[in-house]
Amino acid sequence: MPTVRIIEIDREIDIPEGQTILQGAMAHGIAFGFVCGGNAACGTCLVKVLEGLDSLGKRNPKEDFLAKAMMLDSEFRLGCQTEVSSAPLVISIVSMARGERA
Ligand code: FES
Repeated sequence: MPTVRIIEIDREIDIPEGQTILQGAMAHGIAFGFVCGGNAACGTCLVKVLEGLDSLGKRNPKEDFLAKAMMLDSEFRLGCQTEVSSAPLVISIVSMARGERA
């Protein structure tokens, strides 16, 4: 099971392959913004992928639409849409990095 390290809380969690970053983090009780309920409409679940970006699949159409609207660079992914692969990741949760409440 791949590990995902979240730098803001200096914590490493296991997320099953195929599960989204948001689902995995929430299963570990990690506060994470998801105002739209995981429907790729709000951007509050945004993460910056610091390591392991190449292991992730391409953005799905919903994520791609919002990413273009938000003019996101490729290393920014929606936690609610981005599925973990078999490779480890290091991420920054943007809302945490900004000091916002989840
Ligand atoms: S939870 Fe709203 S875009 Fe991911």
